[in-house]
Amino acid sequence: MMLHIPEVLSKDEVRALRARLDAGPWVDGRTTVGAQGGGVKRNRQIDEHSELGRELGEIVLAALKRSPLFFAAALPLRIVPPLFNAYEGGETYGFHVDGSVRNLPGGADKLRTDLSCTLFLCEPEDYDGGVLEVSDTYGVHEAKLPAGDLILYPSSSLHQVTPVTHGARVCSFFWLQSLVRDETQRRLLFELDATIIRLRTQLGDSAEVLGLTGHYHNLLRMWAEV
Ligand code: NI
Repeated sequence: MMLHIPEVLSKDEVRALRARLDAGPWVDGRTTVGAQGGGVKRNRQIDEHSELGRELGEIVLAALKRSPLFFAAALPLRIVPPLFNAYEGGETYGFHVDGSVRNLPGGADKLRTDLSCTLFLCEPEDYDGGVLEVSDTYGVHEAKLPAGDLILYPSSSLHQVTPVTHGARVCSFFWLQSLVRDETQRRLLFELDATIIRLRTQLGDSAEVLGLTGHYHNLLRMWAEV
């Protein structure tokens, strides 16, 4: 499932973040990738060990916590500190699969990458190209979103960022391990949650809504790994 989550950051928050980001320590994007990705990745990233990168990543994480839609869809257990990248002058990241396991800062903990996230920090009209293309069993899906919006997609998918031929594409990106590993189970829970929310607006907290809420939590209890 690929899901568009609008307005994770407001336009003002994007502007404030970009002002600090644009003056930050940019390095070759191949520093955070394995051999296959390194062969097809041409972009720049904020130094992941920099204080600025850490501070701006915290801002992104705080914004995610305000988004009920993000939580309902991702059911995050652990999130990698967000990174930041930029593409311009023909830079691109060809088809690849994201690494399956990543170390968390400090080295002690690891995270299985279930979902990949891209948070757009520029407007679509700021650049040409730079489309995120995600290939799954239903074909190729494209994302090029307004500043402040986020796309969530399975880390197991083949995906690429097409060459940015004019202007600059600036985004935050990160991975997460979900409480619910299985994509089909996670999707069922997401759709059940949305149905319960709609029913509650129609019926209030009726016995039936309460019953369905119980079924949601008992399914989550059955499938969650913590
Ligand atoms: Ni990727």
